[in-house]
Amino acid sequence: MLIKNKIALSFFSILIPLVNISCKRNPSLKKNLSSSLVSIEKKYFGTTADGNIVDEFVIKNKNGMEINIITYGAIIRSWTAKDINNNYQDVVLGFNNLKDYETSNPYFGAVVGRYANRIANGKFLLNGKYYDLITNNGKNHLHGGLRGFDKVIWDAKEIKNDSSSSLELSYLSEDLEEGYPGNLKVKVTYTLNNKDELNINYKAETDKSTIVNLTQHSYFNLTGDFEKDILDHELLINSDTFLPVDSTLIPIGIFKDVTNTIFDFRMSKKIGFDIDTSDEQIKHGLGYDHCWVLNNQNSGTRFAASVYEPYSKRQLVIYTDQPGIQFYSGNFLNGTLNTKTTGKYNFRSGLCLETQHFPDSPNQEEFPNVVLEPGETYLSNTMYKFTTR
Ligand code: GLA
Repeated sequence: MLIKNKIALSFFSILIPLVNISCKRNPSLKKNLSSSLVSIEKKYFGTTADGNIVDEFVIKNKNGMEINIITYGAIIRSWTAKDINNNYQDVVLGFNNLKDYETSNPYFGAVVGRYANRIANGKFLLNGKYYDLITNNGKNHLHGGLRGFDKVIWDAKEIKNDSSSSLELSYLSEDLEEGYPGNLKVKVTYTLNNKDELNINYKAETDKSTIVNLTQHSYFNLTGDFEKDILDHELLINSDTFLPVDSTLIPIGIFKDVTNTIFDFRMSKKIGFDIDTSDEQIKHGLGYDHCWVLNNQNSGTRFAASVYEPYSKRQLVIYTDQPGIQFYSGNFLNGTLNTKTTGKYNFRSGLCLETQHFPDSPNQEEFPNVVLEPGETYLSNTMYKFTTR
């Protein structure tokens, strides 16, 4: 045994200097070894109106994909992806400065909660007690209220692994914040690897019964040109049914088969193909703003949707363990918000594919449970992968 160890030691003592010599002779070798790591760097992004510092983390993989995440709202501020000619361009809508995020952000890139999407009349019944939430979307509650998770500052921790790097963001949402019961400890972990995959893991724990539904609200424009709209993007959604809504975008409680409707995206279809029809559902949302019920419920993380942009040939593929996906075609963008360069974000210049539980679930008996009890852990996972084809 001792002899074996000695042999092994002397083998390594020969090998290590050899590696060093070859790295010295060929400096690119050393560079290659370290450049297979996904780097993560922190810098100052801005100071909020009430004097809090916001940092930005830049995560970069060996291929050149770069994701900038700020601690305000856990927001993905930019995200580069390669086109067919290997040009990396920013493909998510966002702003250059914190002020725009604080004053006029339609949830660009943000983590949304405590309950993503709408709750009818901002009311729900839990364990025999009615709770009143802030109403911030007509008579309804939307995306966690006036100061949802998209508008708070998260604590950040960097985690480096061999072939990925993570940013772990934590926030404590206090009892009755925006009306929700229970102190909720939330953790969102973004992990980028060298396969151009971003994994998002959500975790939450509470000290009183509450409701939870977390999502990521990035707006994608795969052309890399924010002056263009997303109508030529080809979308596929792995879903046989969607949830029709009323005029305030609350599901009416019916699971509708997509067959022979403009909501059938089971075969890849240009978003613009049916969007301007006189369908009543389209009128309610000024375009698509609906939740699709994903196929293969309760089977863990599985394929949910893909979007392909035919000029750049970029493709985004989405996997999730969530029951639904809200496809929103950027219908409330109206040319008033500044892009990161010189232009404005016009009507339908970005699209969202938000993996989540169904809207208004706390008030709809047929929908899967969204109640989190003390002692339980809310866990959810979504993966975004970029490719070209
Ligand atoms: C979600 C909603 C939309 C809209 C956007 C933000 O996707 O479903 O109706 O509120 O967020 O503007």
